[in-house]
Order: sequence, then structure tokens, then C-alpha cells
Amino acid sequence: MKGLLLLGLLLLSATVQGKIYGRCELARTLKELGMDGYRGISLADWVCIAKWESGYNTEATNYNPGDKSTDYGIFQINSRYWCNNGETPGAVDACDISCSALLQSNITDAVKCAKRVVRDPQGIRAWVAWRTHCENHDLSEYVEGCGV
Ligand SMILES: *[C@@H]1O[C@H](CO)[C@@H](O)[C@H](O)[C@H]1NC(C)=O
Repeated sequence: MKGLLLLGLLLLSATVQGKIYGRCELARTLKELGMDGYRGISLADWVCIAKWESGYNTEATNYNPGDKSTDYGIFQINSRYWCNNGETPGAVDACDISCSALLQSNITDAVKCAKRVVRDPQGIRAWVAWRTHCENHDLSEYVEGCGV
């Protein structure tokens, strides 16, 4: 019985592709992917966004009943503008990507799309969580001790 449960858990972790990042693990990964200073945005800002949007969880999704869109992944990227989930009215898909790709443990696609988001004029202000929790805050704690 215990063996069966263990097998089930193993199978589950093999099929579920997401992951919850550690703070410093995320900071280092974002740095490797060229996010440190991208469009003048600091690594600490990106980590702060991820913390408040998803709790560093690449599998986080949130449905917005107002416009029937869904936010995906570590940066909670929205299906109305950026990714395609096949069920959002009037969707734009500006990142030209399937929303499910934004839920992978490998955040390469999510980072690429986040870069696309901040190339728009609104820039980092696209994230409500950034305005609420990161803007005008001391963000040093988000990268403290990470060696980045
Ligand atoms: C993550 O995905 C990218 C692009 O698909 C790939 O180049 C890279 O090797 C992957 N990284 C890991 C650690 O699997």
C-alpha cells in the first residue's frame, strides 16, 4: 500500500511540470536568462513580482471572471493580451505562445514573454502586484544572500 502510494506520487511528480522556486534559485535563474537590468528593471524587482504574483510557483493560475481571462505562471501572465489558452474572448497572444508553456518548471518561455510585456510602453507597471508591493519599496531583501 505504501509502495503504491509512493509510486503514485512519483508518477504525479513526473507528469506535473511545475515547480516552486526558492528565492535565490529564482534570482540566479533570472540572472542567467538576462533579466538583471533588462529595460532598466532590477533582478530584485523581478523576484518581487514573482513572489507576490505566484509565490514563486510556476504552476499558479488565476481566473479573472471580469474579462474571462486567466493569469499563468510565475509572473501571472495574462491570456487576454500575452498568451493563447484558446478560450479567452478577444485574445491577442502578443507573446505568440501557448499559456500552458508558461507553467513549466523551466521558466525560459515565461521569461521571454515577461520581456515582451515590459517592451510595451506601460513597462513594469503592467503588474499590479509590482505597483502594490514593490514600487518605492526597499527590495534588497529579495536578492539578499543570493550572490547575484
Ligand atoms: C529550458 O528550455 C530552454 C528552451 O526551451 C532550453 O534551451 C534549456 O536548455 C532548458 N533548460 C533546462 C535546464 O532544461
